[in-house]
Amino acid sequence: MGSTSWMPVAAPAWSAPACATGHVVWSASICRLQCSSGAKSKNVYDELHQDDLVSFMLARPQAYDVVTGAASLIHFGDLGPAFTAAGSALRAGGAFVFTVFPSERNGDFSVASLEGFAKGGCFLHGRDYIAATASASGFGIETIDSAVHEYKNDSPVAGLVVVLRKP
Ligand SMILES: C[S@@+](CC[C@H](N)C(=O)[O-])C[C@H]1O[C@@H](n2cnc3c(N)ncnc32)[C@H](O)[C@@H]1O
Repeated sequence: MGSTSWMPVAAPAWSAPACATGHVVWSASICRLQCSSGAKSKNVYDELHQDDLVSFMLARPQAYDVVTGAASLIHFGDLGPAFTAAGSALRAGGAFVFTVFPSERNGDFSVASLEGFAKGGCFLHGRDYIAATASASGFGIETIDSAVHEYKNDSPVAGLVVVLRKP
């Protein structure tokens, strides 16, 4: 997986709490051009950047109240660097909301088999691993919930929705 993507930075109509003054949304497409034109055409983002999400966040200390990433951290095995970077980019009280695929190896992360498009080659993360890494990165854990991540051939693919809070 490449290390760059398009990243809309905005206060979108959905999910931004009243206190939010800055919100970074990790969003991308396998096709950068498609994503960039799609994101631009929505006309809801204040900024679009193309960068590695870890270095982008580390370069912006305490810049955001909310950081979200749908299906972005499924490309990361060790979540420590991304959690550290999100902890740096968030202001006190800020939320870090993201999705991953669950692992049966609860205390660890692993790689999904290459079978199937949805999870093939992506990382799977155990709940205990997420919780331990979040705590080690200074986050409080609000939720680690099971949810449908996406549909593959009309069949639900299991995911985890995680909400962490910077104290
Ligand atoms: C499965 S897509 C999800 C896209 C979008 N959030 C969505 O739900 O449609 C995952 C994206 O994460 C991006 N990505 C992977 N590693 C990244 C990194 N280190 N920094 C920024 N983006 C990354 C990839 O470019 C890829 O397009």
